[in-house]
Amino acid sequence: MGPESLLFIVGHPLSHSLSPAMHNAVIARLGLPLRYVGIDIPRVVLPDFFRVVREGNFLGGNVTIPHKEEAASLADEKSEAVEVCGAANVICIRKGKLRAENTDGHGFLDAAADAGWGRRFRRVVLLGAGGSARGIAFELCRAGAKEMTILNRHPSRGEEIASILSPRFPGTAMSAGELNPARMIEEFRGADLVVQCTSLGLFGDWEHFPLEGVEKTTRFADIIYRRGGTALVRLLKKRGISAIDGLAMLAHQAARSFFLWTGKRVPGEEFLSVARKTIAVG
Ligand SMILES: NC(=O)c1ccc[n+]([C@@H]2O[C@H](COP(=O)([O-])OP(=O)(O)OC[C@H]3O[C@@H](n4cnc5c(N)ncnc54)[C@H](OP(=O)(O)O)[C@@H]3O)[C@@H](O)[C@H]2O)c1
Repeated sequence: MGPESLLFIVGHPLSHSLSPAMHNAVIARLGLPLRYVGIDIPRVVLPDFFRVVREGNFLGGNVTIPHKEEAASLADEKSEAVEVCGAANVICIRKGKLRAENTDGHGFLDAAADAGWGRRFRRVVLLGAGGSARGIAFELCRAGAKEMTILNRHPSRGEEIASILSPRFPGTAMSAGELNPARMIEEFRGADLVVQCTSLGLFGDWEHFPLEGVEKTTRFADIIYRRGGTALVRLLKKRGISAIDGLAMLAHQAARSFFLWTGKRVPGEEFLSVARKTIAVG
C-alpha cells in the first residue's frame, strides 16, 4: 500500500452500487491510506482504463456489469474460478500486473451459510447463465452439489456452463434448458436450492416465475437486492418458503475482495451493516 492508494469499481451504469459506501466505511474505521472510487465507463473504454490502472497508484478494484467478461480476458493472471467462469468481479494489481478473481460464488455460499442453509446442496436449480451464475455454479459444484440444472433465456449459454463444469466436477450431474414456466415447474420439484441469477428482478417482471411449483423444503435465493427486499423474496416468504435476497452475498463478496487487496479479514457482517444503512436511505 502506498501513501494513498486507490481502489475502484468499474461498471456501467454505477449509480445503484453500494460498494463505495461499504468499502470507504471499512477503510475509514481501519484508518487505512486508501480511497475507493466509482468509475462509470462504457465497454469500449475498459482496455484504456486498465492501461491507466496498471501505471497509476491503484491497489485493485471491483468489476461489475457489463465488464466482467472483458475484465477476465484483459487480465494477465486468472484464478481458477475466473479461468472456468470467464468472468471476473475483482482485480488485484501487483507490480503492474492485473490478476482477475471471482468472489461472487464465495459471497453467495457465505450468505447461504449465514441464512443457516449450509454450503452443500444436493439438487440445485440456477435461473440465468450470466457472469454471476457462472461464479455461483462453480462454487456450488466445488462445495459438493450432486445435481445442477441451469435454465436460461438463451439455453446455449447454460449448456456452455454445463459443458465446462461437467469434466471438472464429475460428482455433479449437470443439465441445462430453457427458462420457461413449464421447465421451471418441472425442475423446482425436489430442488434443495434455487438461485435466481438473471437481471429480470431489475425490471420487477415476475410473471416468468411459476412460484406455485416451489416446495416448502426448497431454499430460494434471489441475488438481486432492493430497499425493503425484492418482490420475489417477499412473494416466496408469503408462501412460507425460506428465501434471501442478494444483499448478504454482496457484503460477503466485498469482504473477500477487501481481503484480496489488503490482506485484512473484516467480517462480512460489517459490510452488510453499512449496505443496509446505505440502501435504507436510498
Ligand atoms: N448480490 C450480488 O452480490 C450480486 C453479484 C453479481 C450480480 N448481481 C445481480 O445479478 C444480476 C445478474 O448479474 P450477471 O453479472 O450475471 O449479469 P449478466 O452476465 O448480464 O447476465 C444476465 C442474465 O440475465 C438474463 N436475462 C436478462 N434479461 C432477461 C429477460 N428479460 N428474461 C430472461 N432472462 C434475462 C440473461 O439471459 P441471456 O443469457 O439469455 O441473455 C443472463 O442469464 C444483476 O441484476 C446483478 O445486479 C448481484
